[in-house]
Amino acid sequence: MKRTAVYPGSFDPITKGHEDLIHRSLGFVDRVVVAVAVNVTKQPLFSLEERVALIRQAVPEPRVDVQAFEGLLVEFAQQVGASLIVRGLRAVSDFEYEFQMALMNRNLAPQLETVFLVPAFDLTYLSSSLVREVARFGGDVSALVHPAVQQALKRKFAP
Ligand code: PNS
Repeated sequence: MKRTAVYPGSFDPITKGHEDLIHRSLGFVDRVVVAVAVNVTKQPLFSLEERVALIRQAVPEPRVDVQAFEGLLVEFAQQVGASLIVRGLRAVSDFEYEFQMALMNRNLAPQLETVFLVPAFDLTYLSSSLVREVARFGGDVSALVHPAVQQALKRKFAP
């Protein structure tokens, strides 16, 4: 039987940290469904369509599927036949929120297991919000995001 993991997030935008986790996940599952949340509480910089398109460009892998989802993550995971939810754990500061979310998801769907992955050392302090901030003020984000994302950020913040 094929094992599918769902990798959910806002991806506003996808960073090399996210790419790293997707590739790591492919080491132990057959298929990764990158689940892009429609309802991000804060106003996102990139539209849902832009976020999905940028992930497809950054990770053009046949075993990676990119889909938008609305509502409960566990329901989406069940719809796509996933048995695992993958999340990245960077610093201690991530832990409380991630732990709460994992326990709530287990409460909602006990058969779904959350797996936390540790990113590559040099990507540990990377986040989409930092990338947005650096790009907003014209800083170089080429080491942090795929070239397609870099171009998209340039266009967003063009004077
Ligand atoms: O990249 P983010 O913003 O940390 O991702 C958070 C996300 C989208 C994974 C989380 O907010 C989520 O799963 N939202 C869907 C709604 C849901 O299922 N909420 C209950 C989780 S406890």
